[in-house]
Amino acid sequence: MSNVVVVGAQWGDEGKGRIVDWLAERADIVARYNGGHNAGHTLVIDGKTYKLALLPSGVVRGKRGVIGNGVALDPEALLAEIGRMEALGVRITPDLLQIAETATLVLPIHRAIDAAQEQLRTRLQECPLGTTLRGIGPAYEDKVGRRALRVCDLANPEYLSARLDLLLAHHNAWFRGLGLETFDKAPLLGALLAMAPKILPFVGRVWEQLDAAHRHGQSVVFEGSQAVMLDIDWGSYPYVTSSSTVAAGAASGTGIAPSRIGHVLGVSKVYATRVGEGPFVSELDGALGERLRDRGREYGVNTGRPRRCGWLDAVQLRQAVKVGGIDRLALTKLDVLDGFETISLCVGYERDGQRIDYIPASDAALAGVRPVLREFPGWSRPTQGARAMDALPAEAVALIEAIEAEVGVPVTMVTTGAERDDVVLRNVE
Ligand code: IMO
Ligand code: MG
Repeated sequence: MSNVVVVGAQWGDEGKGRIVDWLAERADIVARYNGGHNAGHTLVIDGKTYKLALLPSGVVRGKRGVIGNGVALDPEALLAEIGRMEALGVRITPDLLQIAETATLVLPIHRAIDAAQEQLRTRLQECPLGTTLRGIGPAYEDKVGRRALRVCDLANPEYLSARLDLLLAHHNAWFRGLGLETFDKAPLLGALLAMAPKILPFVGRVWEQLDAAHRHGQSVVFEGSQAVMLDIDWGSYPYVTSSSTVAAGAASGTGIAPSRIGHVLGVSKVYATRVGEGPFVSELDGALGERLRDRGREYGVNTGRPRRCGWLDAVQLRQAVKVGGIDRLALTKLDVLDGFETISLCVGYERDGQRIDYIPASDAALAGVRPVLREFPGWSRPTQGARAMDALPAEAVALIEAIEAEVGVPVTMVTTGAERDDVVLRNVE
């Protein structure tokens, strides 16, 4: 198998983890390149559910995982997740997991900043972003601000201490200005130094390991977190996450050469969901939206928040394919549509009586946009658990083909249930 990058093609929660799990069986390494424990990737293996946030989705089945430099790594969250996996019988050893020495550290102060920034947005603009409050955005801000602590700093207590002074001088001034409580250095430093011996055995030069893997003919699945519409450049700014979620992020976030990225598999549900604030043209407010939420169990893995639901938006998906570098699609959760009499697909946008086929950049321009819907008949025979094209009802096949035609890239996988092998393969070379 060649390398493949798995990219969320909507607003996250598309089922990337289970697609990665399926691909990982045929690959040697799974690499995370962006995001942090704001991600929630769920795998169901033999009826047992594994919820991952920071660990690459291959580790559950003993596949080597790497966490790249593009990841925002909360050491506390990582150790807790390793503990949870061990309780489920999955041992995470340094043979199995390697962490880039240059990954940015997420600290408790980042969680406090995240919460304070959300309060500020609510107070001043009446609208928070609806972040996961994990401190991911503020940690990336520190990275770009060149005051972040990195994983490699854990090996050098004096340097770590000096870096913390700089970080705290910056943030405590802001806290003080807002009349909020400031952070003391000693407990922060103490906690980091206590965790260091548990983290450092995993730490190394991931870029070098990936290069060596390539030279030995090994293949890598790059596991994207979040999605194109949450990308810092390509998403619906400011309602985005703070990292590069697109295929290009796999190169900058791990050290792999762009020319070695291989295929880019976009993952999309056959409908749409979004958690947190921000525009969502094809959103369904009423009973239909609730039915999708119910049938799809659309609640955040991480935060438990109910997800907003709507029809699949082909305008959005087409744009995500172009800017995200996607060359094929996996459609997930087809079985959620079992039992719907009719299913709609948003095939265009309308604004002031005019058709547009792109997502307007500004919130103001987006506000007047209405979805143009095309209706499809539902099906009576369930698709749940189907594992071959000929097991799918003709109406489901017609919907898949219509999505493919609207979006312009082949649909190579369709999932029909939570287990890894509830997958229908299509057009596979
Ligand atoms: P996976 O990898 C869905 C959303 C948050 C919020 C915005 C910014 O499971 O698809 P952040 O905490 O990142 O600063 O929040 O991004 N968000 C996600 N939504 N799935 C995710 O990850 C998400 N990670 C962040 O809800 O709207
Ligand atoms: Mg998620």
